[in-house]
Amino acid sequence: EQIEKGGYEHFMLKEIFEQPKSIHDTMRGRLLVDEGVIKMAGIWDHVERFKNANRIIIIACGTSWHAGLIGEYLIEEYARIPVEVEYASEFRYRNPIITDKDVVIAISQSGETADTMAALKLAKEKGAFIYGICNVVDSSIARITDAGSYTHAGPEIGVASTKAFTAQLTILTLIAFKLGKHNGTLGNAEFMSLIAELDAIPKRVEEVLGTTHELVQNIAKDFVNATNFLYLGRGYNYPAALEGALKLKEISYIHAEGYPAAEMKHGPIALIDENMPIVIIAPKKGHYDKIVSNVQEIKARKGKVIAVVNKGDQQVSSMADYVIEIPETSECFSPIVASVPLQLLAYYIAVYRGANVDQPRNLAKSVTVE
Ligand code: AGP
Repeated sequence: EQIEKGGYEHFMLKEIFEQPKSIHDTMRGRLLVDEGVIKMAGIWDHVERFKNANRIIIIACGTSWHAGLIGEYLIEEYARIPVEVEYASEFRYRNPIITDKDVVIAISQSGETADTMAALKLAKEKGAFIYGICNVVDSSIARITDAGSYTHAGPEIGVASTKAFTAQLTILTLIAFKLGKHNGTLGNAEFMSLIAELDAIPKRVEEVLGTTHELVQNIAKDFVNATNFLYLGRGYNYPAALEGALKLKEISYIHAEGYPAAEMKHGPIALIDENMPIVIIAPKKGHYDKIVSNVQEIKARKGKVIAVVNKGDQQVSSMADYVIEIPETSECFSPIVASVPLQLLAYYIAVYRGANVDQPRNLAKSVTVE
């Protein structure tokens, strides 16, 4: 096992550090920047089915559901196809309206999640076209789908999903750009610039790992005894906030909630006092000014702000108690880059609390029962 961990103390840390490679591997052979092409046979063979879909329904659980939410932002923004994201467990039991004009995308790292599998079977019976995004090759979900794309993240052993999540985001980004190009909703110049930026994302992630690792380790020390956490983000980073909170609760057993930052005033603001740590994802692109006022509201109530901002940020940084800098990217890529320090934060808080990071209590890597 020590050898498999490659010198890291836990699989989770190894998997966090593998992300530049796993994202790169997921794009390899698909993203051909010089030719200005995204090659994805699974999409291309059915591209009219996607283009003419009434809507795309993304079905998943847990972290994969968070990736699905970001997929909704991506596909609606770039391909202009309506998208709904559903928890598999809710979808399967609520007599959903599904027709043969719908496309269902199932996202599952393991490809064995019982609820996702059952929801897919239901959608298939009703004639929907089923597309899978799985990490485990030849898994049950991968086998029943009509087409799909594997994330090439490699085996993920830590129960808390990290590299599978960023690989899922990578695939969803490729799908959104490919469909957008085909549908004519993403112009060529923007397509070319976005794919060049995507190609460099593994480098950005590498950079973030290098610049934030020690810093986040130190920040984590101050929160070992925290009992609650709020994670806030807007736009593409709202699901990233949900994912940050899920990581923390899974492995550290600290109660954490993710919220869209603007929803704070509809309830969670009542929780804020000097004992409430609030992680706020505030990159320059994407509702920055709105986030600034959210941070002002938090500081007025003495909440402890841990801000994830772009390099050189001034406004949010001047108010925050802790500042984690990430490189500036187009908004659609920011959840990938911002997730890395949040994974590290959850990891180190859990380690300092003496928790079993790779195998947290009560959790299984794949949930094959209801
Ligand atoms: C992630 O950290 C969790 N352990 C969990 O939420 C997981 O994402 C969920 O069970 C879905 O698993 P799947 O992607 O294998 O279907």
